[in-house]
Amino acid sequence: MSLIQIKDLWQIYNDRVVLENLNLSIVEKSFVSIVGPSGCGKTTLLRMLMSEVFCTRGSILFDGTNLPKEPTRERGVVFQRYSVFPHLSVLDNVLLPIELRSCRILGKILGSRRYNMKEEARTMLDHVGLLRAATLYPAQLSGGMQQRLALAQALIAKPRVLLLDEPFSALDPGTRADIHVLTNRLWEETKMTVVMVTHDISEAFRLGTRVIVLERPLADDPTKGARITHDIPVHPRTKTKTGAI
Ligand SMILES: Nc1ncnc2c1ncn2[C@@H]1O[C@H](COP(=O)(O)OP(=O)(O)OP(=O)(O)O)[C@@H](O)[C@H]1O
Ligand SMILES: [Mg+2]
Repeated sequence: MSLIQIKDLWQIYNDRVVLENLNLSIVEKSFVSIVGPSGCGKTTLLRMLMSEVFCTRGSILFDGTNLPKEPTRERGVVFQRYSVFPHLSVLDNVLLPIELRSCRILGKILGSRRYNMKEEARTMLDHVGLLRAATLYPAQLSGGMQQRLALAQALIAKPRVLLLDEPFSALDPGTRADIHVLTNRLWEETKMTVVMVTHDISEAFRLGTRVIVLERPLADDPTKGARITHDIPVHPRTKTKTGAI
């Protein structure tokens, strides 16, 4: 069943058509990679899925109803950088979404409830291999560790869809390969739906179950926005054969 349905979606900024008439259904538990040249509107599309920006025309349905007008816990996000809070320790970065989930009005959570939350946060840190770094601050982590922390922070809220905007592009190849394995494992374990924007075609195919290509027909023509030019299913067997995962 489709978790996300994008219908006749247009985005126009200052008379420049950025996205033109996009139609896309995203099935629950799929991993959709989106690739395309710089400036074609990939981040804009993700920001729409987060309800951070609104489309000029068209609609987005989430689980059959109009997308909520504000970001919700059901939609987690990780960016290339700066997804975590620099002034909070690793543990507190992961604890924060649980605290927010537990109390609508911010207040101190005491006793066994806070203990349980900390245990949940520690379990998640263990999952992404950061338990030993729990007391450190983001500035004390490597780029790969920061992105693992960002993943942990997004996943602890148990989102139904995880939106990734070039999350691994600043990492060196070795670290990136490790985090690919981790991301694939987390996706398989949680069975959440993932939409990932990347410039790296091999990463798109390695992680995705489907690869969408967005392209403007004429880069300089402001009246023609990006469209979906390719929609490629990725068979799991292909990955095993090529040893991609
Ligand atoms: N808030 C805004 N106001 C005006 N124009 C915008 C706004 N946000 C994005 N744009 C324009 O929309 C186009 C698409 O931007 P977007 O950031 O979505 O591209 P992208 O595909 O993510 O590029 P990159 O691969 O470089 O990250 C660009 O021309 C950008 O200048
Ligand atoms: Mg972008």
